[in-house]
Amino acid sequence: MTVDNIVLIGFMGTGKSSCGRELAYRLQWEFIEMDKDIERMAGVSIPEIFAQQGEVHFRDLETKVCRSLAQKHHTVISAGGGVIIRPENVQILRSFAFLILLTATPEEIYQRVLYDGTEKRPLLSKPDPMREIKNLLIVREPLYRAAADVQLKTKGKSPGEIASEIIELLRKRENLTC
Ligand code: S3P
Repeated sequence: MTVDNIVLIGFMGTGKSSCGRELAYRLQWEFIEMDKDIERMAGVSIPEIFAQQGEVHFRDLETKVCRSLAQKHHTVISAGGGVIIRPENVQILRSFAFLILLTATPEEIYQRVLYDGTEKRPLLSKPDPMREIKNLLIVREPLYRAAADVQLKTKGKSPGEIASEIIELLRKRENLTC
């Protein structure tokens, strides 16, 4: 079976969006950021959704967006870091896409998230973001691993290098399955 769509999953700050954009460009596929679709659906930013309607509402929108993507072909999707929390989301995504997990250490995540600004990530906009990262990773790591078809370490790699690794991996996989 050839890969028709790719979903990049992983914790905040693992480079899903930058790598996804590069990968889509190289494959000449469409690129979609789930968070952007959620913001479009809500008409406000993610921090505003969390502040005004709470996380459960955000998660409901996230599930709606997963469903809305199920008819896609030749699309690279960058998922929000918490998409794996709901088993329903994982089931939907796995039904139409190959799931690639990008991993990073808590220290790398912390650096990248600080660089972007923690105010953009409501779950980390707390007095001790490092503690939040570590606590969330403890809960989520088994979920990421269970959801993923393959995983890639991102330490010290550029988005272009990660995209190349993914393309190589797909090439090998398709030779094996043809
Ligand atoms: C979240 C990750 C964010 C965004 C929201 C919640 C999470 O996406 O969906 O702030 O629960 O990990 P990124 O992983 O793209 O930062």
